[in-house]
Amino acid sequence: MAPASRKVRVAQVGLGRIGSFHAETLARRIPDAELAVVVDPNGELARTIGERFEVPWSTSYDEVLGDGDIDAVLLASPTPLHADQLERAAAAHKHIFCEKPLSLDPALAASAVRAAREAGVKLQVGFHRRFDPDFRTVRDRIDDGSVGDIRFFRATCRDMQAPSLQYLQSCGGIFADVTLHDFDVARWLVGEVSEVYATGAALSDPAIAEVAGDVDNAVVVLRFANGALGVIDNSRASGYGYEASLEVMGSRSTVRIGAAAQRVTGVETLAGASRRSDIGTDFVGRFAEGYVGAVAAFVRAVATDSDPSPTGQDAIAAFALALAAQGSMGTQRPVKVDELAAGVGHER
Ligand SMILES: NC(=O)c1ccc[n+]([C@@H]2O[C@H](COP(=O)([O-])OP(=O)(O)OC[C@H]3O[C@@H](n4cnc5c(N)ncnc54)[C@H](O)[C@@H]3O)[C@@H](O)[C@H]2O)c1
Repeated sequence: MAPASRKVRVAQVGLGRIGSFHAETLARRIPDAELAVVVDPNGELARTIGERFEVPWSTSYDEVLGDGDIDAVLLASPTPLHADQLERAAAAHKHIFCEKPLSLDPALAASAVRAAREAGVKLQVGFHRRFDPDFRTVRDRIDDGSVGDIRFFRATCRDMQAPSLQYLQSCGGIFADVTLHDFDVARWLVGEVSEVYATGAALSDPAIAEVAGDVDNAVVVLRFANGALGVIDNSRASGYGYEASLEVMGSRSTVRIGAAAQRVTGVETLAGASRRSDIGTDFVGRFAEGYVGAVAAFVRAVATDSDPSPTGQDAIAAFALALAAQGSMGTQRPVKVDELAAGVGHER
C-alpha cells in the first residue's frame, strides 16, 4: 500500500499504442496517481514521452524494480514479455496492472498469478470494457433484473485496419488478442462459457495468413453454462472505422450498445439525400473512459488496500476461451471448455 499521505507512484512500462495512453492517464487524468517514470527499450521513445510529461525516463526495467519509491508497474510491453515482467515485479513487491493477455502460455500465466498472490501484491488485468459507461449500464440492467433471464449474447469488435505484421506475429492470434475482450465481457455479463465453435479467414491481406499464420475475420459461437447462446464476430480490418457493439437479449428486455456508441460526436451531417455521422477509428478513442476508469480503479485499490478487479483468474478464464476457439478453428468442431480448463490453471 502506498503511504496515505502521497499519491500512488506508478512506472509505465512499454510506451507503444496503449502504453503511451496509459502514461498520459497516469500523468494527467488520475489525481491520486503519479507517473513516476516511463520505461521502454526504445530510448528515443522513452525520452520523448518522459519529456512530454516531465518525468524521468529509462530503458531499464530492472532499474525501476530496484527503486523503493515506486509502488506499482503498469505493464504494456509486448504480450510475450508480460509473465516474466509480472513475476519480477511481484518479487520486487510492486503492485501490478498488466495488459491482456497475461501470457500466451497458460502455465506461465498461472505461475505469474500465483507469484503475485504469494507476494501479497495487487494484480489487475486490462479488461477496460468493464469500466466503459455503456458496458456498465448493460451490466447494471442485468443486475437489477430488468433484462431477465439471458437468452442471447452478441458482440462485435472490429478494428479499422490491422496492426503491423510485427505485432500480429507476437500477439498470439486474433482470439487471444481481439476476441479475448469479448470473451471477458461474455463471462462478466452472462456467466461461464461451456462450449465454443470458431471459424475464420484471412480476407484483407494474404500476409496475415502467410506471415503471421493468422486470420483477420472470425466468428465464434458460444454456449453458456446457464443455457444462453452467443455469437461474437471480429475483424482486424473493417475499413469503415472502429466498432465495439453489443446486445444482450433477455426474457424481459433486450439491451443494445449500437451505432450511437460508435460516434465521435453527436453531430450528423445531412446532404445529398443522406445522413452521415462520423465514427471513431481506433480503440483508444472509443474506450478512453474505460481505459482511464480501469487504471483509476487499480490506483484506488492500491491506495485503499482493497482487492482489484478484473483479476488474474479472469484473465486465465478468458484465455482458456481463446485457446478453445483456436482449437475449434483448427479442427472445425465445437470444443467443450471444461475439457481444456484443467490444463490452463482455471479455478472454477
Ligand atoms: N486493453 C486493450 O484494449 C489493449 C489495446 C492495445 C494493446 N493491448 C495490449 O498491450 C500490449 C502492448 O500493445 P501495443 O499495441 O501498445 O504494442 P506496441 O507494439 O504498440 O508497443 C509495445 C511497446 O513495448 C516496448 N517494449 C518492447 N520490449 C519491452 C520491454 N522489455 N520492456 C518494456 N517495453 C518494451 C516496445 O518498444 C513498444 O514501444 C499487448 O500485450 C497488447 O495485447 C491492450
